[in-house]
Amino acid sequence: MIETKTEEEIAFLRESCRIVRDCLAFVEEHIKAGMTTREVDEMVYKFITASGAEPSCLGYCGYPASACVSLNEVVVHGIPDDRVIEEGDIVSVDLCAYKNGFHGDGARTFCIGEVSDEKKKLVRVTRECFFAAMEGLKAGTPLYDIGYKVQRHAESNGFSVIRSYTGHGIGREMHEDPAVPNFGRKGTGPRLPANAVICVEPMIAAGGWRVNVLDDGWTAVMADKRPAAHYENTVVIREDGVEILTL
Ligand code: MF3
Ligand code: CO
Repeated sequence: MIETKTEEEIAFLRESCRIVRDCLAFVEEHIKAGMTTREVDEMVYKFITASGAEPSCLGYCGYPASACVSLNEVVVHGIPDDRVIEEGDIVSVDLCAYKNGFHGDGARTFCIGEVSDEKKKLVRVTRECFFAAMEGLKAGTPLYDIGYKVQRHAESNGFSVIRSYTGHGIGREMHEDPAVPNFGRKGTGPRLPANAVICVEPMIAAGGWRVNVLDDGWTAVMADKRPAAHYENTVVIREDGVEILTL
């Protein structure tokens, strides 16, 4: 079942998503080599709470932080700790804000100083995968066209898409139906209704797509230790296109 939202609900989602957008921009401005991932998390906690929102991730299924901060071969759900961010790292920061009963969700991958050409391309292509999925997306689009377009763009650049994590619906819950995979067959899946709100979040790997989860139950590491990147926005499906709320 793909739920739809009223304009009143979308107005609340817009506000939560604006906080996510502004927080990601704030992190982009301040993140630098020498910082620990915990310092990034503290920055996120302060920004979200100062905006009158709550960090949705904190305490979600026991998750211990306000943001996921994932370095290099960690694709998602990196738990902030004392690890120091270094020049040449790529760092994905994924965060959610909860306000007025609604969640916003977004992620970016940042390059710290000069990074390798492969990492630079991976970060660029991951972002492009999101926008490839937005092309032609509107009410009536089959759901798996999103994954088809993400996968086509990633694989045509020699990269692979992560299978074990997907995008999702969002609203009063951080994760609602439907799951939004980053792979799929063109023209398949339920048709997206107008005013459905979904998170589209390409997770793209430079090497193979296999992932291992560490004993902490969260940290998702590429099995081949090659780098991976993540880019996410919350999107409203409209009759004639999309409204991207976290951009
Ligand atoms: N923001 C993530 C997402 O895109 C959720 C992270 S899991 C959490 O779905 F435990 F950190 F919240
Ligand atoms: Co998400």
